[in-house]
Amino acid sequence: MSAYIKIEGLRKSFKNKGERTEVLKGIDISIDKGDIFGIVGFSGAGKSTLVRCINRLEEPDSGKIRIGDTEITALNKKALNIRRRKIGMIFQQFNLFDSMTVFENIAYPLTLIKTPKRETEEKVDKLLELVGLSDKKNAYPGSLSGGQKQRVGIARALANDPDVLLSDEATSALDPVSTLAILDLLEQINDELGVTIIMITHELEAAKRICNKVAVLENGVITESGRTRDIFLDPKSKTGRIFLEVYKEFRQDNTFTGGEGI
Ligand SMILES: Nc1ncnc2c1ncn2[C@@H]1O[C@H](COP(=O)(O)OP(=O)(O)O)[C@@H](O)[C@H]1O
Ligand SMILES: [Mg+2]
Repeated sequence: MSAYIKIEGLRKSFKNKGERTEVLKGIDISIDKGDIFGIVGFSGAGKSTLVRCINRLEEPDSGKIRIGDTEITALNKKALNIRRRKIGMIFQQFNLFDSMTVFENIAYPLTLIKTPKRETEEKVDKLLELVGLSDKKNAYPGSLSGGQKQRVGIARALANDPDVLLSDEATSALDPVSTLAILDLLEQINDELGVTIIMITHELEAAKRICNKVAVLENGVITESGRTRDIFLDPKSKTGRIFLEVYKEFRQDNTFTGGEGI
C-alpha cells in the first residue's frame, strides 16, 4: 500500500537579521492511513515548523507534501483553504477564543463555512459527547481545567470531519493525569473515527503510549524512524538514545499523583 501522507525532500529556512538558518534540512516521511505517527525531538529541533509545513501555515522552501490524492504543495490558495478544513490541528496552548462559550468555540469552523444552525447544533452536541463535555456546553474556557480546554480544542479540530489531525505538543501543558486522559481520547478518535494522527511531542512517554510509529527529529533531520517499539528498544540516533535514558529516569521518579481534574 502506498503511503497516505508522503513528505519528500522538505526544506524550510528562516531569515533572522539578514542571516538565513535552515530549520528543516530535507525531510522524508511516509505515513499510512490510520497511523498515530509520532515526531519526537528536543526543543528547537524543528517539530512545529515541520507540522506547520504540512498544512502550509508555513510555506516550505522546497519539497513535496501529498495527503491522499492531493498534492498539498501544488494547491492554490483557494484549494488549500478548502483542503485545510479536513486537516484538524490542536496546540499546546489550546488556542481557544476566551470570549466564546465552549459551544461557540467548537461551532466556529462550521460557522465559517455557513453551516445551517440546526446541523451545527447537532454536530457540536455529538462532539461534546465524544469528548465528554456535554455539561460544559455554555461554559467559558476561563472556567475550565487544562484537560477540559484541550478537549474543546480536540472537538473543534474534529468539527469538519478531518481525515488528518495534527497535534503539536497537545499534552505538554497538562499534568500527568490529564495527559493520560487526553492521549486515551486521541487513541479513541483514531480508532473510532479512523483519523490519521501526526503527533509532535518532546515527551517520549506520550509517544510511547499511543504512537504506532515514530520518527526522531534532530536539528532539522530525521535521524531514525520506524515502529515505536523497535525504535525505543534499540535507538540508533543520539537523540533517540538520550530520550530513552530520560524516559527511564522519568519512569523511576514519576509517581503519577496529583492532577488538575479532567
Ligand atoms: N517564524 C520563525 N522565524 C524565525 N525563526 C523561526 C521561526 N519559527 C521557528 N524558528 C526557528 O526554527 C527553529 C525550530 O523551531 P521549532 O520548529 O519551533 O522547533 P520545535 O517545535 O522542535 O521546538 C528554532 O531555532 C526557531 O527559533
Ligand atoms: Mg514546537
